[in-house]
Amino acid sequence: MSGPLILLLSGPNLQLLGQREPAVYGRATLDDHVQTAAEAAALCGLEVEHHQSDHEARLVELVHGARGRVAAVIVNPGALTHYGWSLHDALVTFEGPVIEVHLSNPEAREAWRRTSVIAPVATGTIAGLGGLGYRLAVEAVASLLGRT
Ligand code: DQA
Repeated sequence: MSGPLILLLSGPNLQLLGQREPAVYGRATLDDHVQTAAEAAALCGLEVEHHQSDHEARLVELVHGARGRVAAVIVNPGALTHYGWSLHDALVTFEGPVIEVHLSNPEAREAWRRTSVIAPVATGTIAGLGGLGYRLAVEAVASLLGRT
């Protein structure tokens, strides 16, 4: 029997992790991060469903489909972090915990990255810890769901 579901969402360009600006984002691939999350989830009796899209509308639809179906959302919105208001609005409609994850620390980068339109609707944000952030996000969800 599988446990409660975490929807893990990856925004634009994250399918290129491993090749994309490795000095900023590291050499691990998106599959590596998904596996990290899935392994951490399994230890807490949770399951991860992952989707990546370059399209904000697709991510909005995935959040709609999560309502009443999944227990929590973990999202690395990529650049949509900084301007994705329809993703923001969709996440408002989701009833469970929402954890925002960034591999890099946007606060320490270009000025335009210092605004997150997702942070105001996130339960919490984990940034700057590379792939460790995915494990910590799952552990945060498990704790918020009372599974630790
Ligand atoms: C990112 C940070 C964003 O500013 C950037 O656009 C990304 C990745 C991160 O994981 O550090 O695509 O979300």
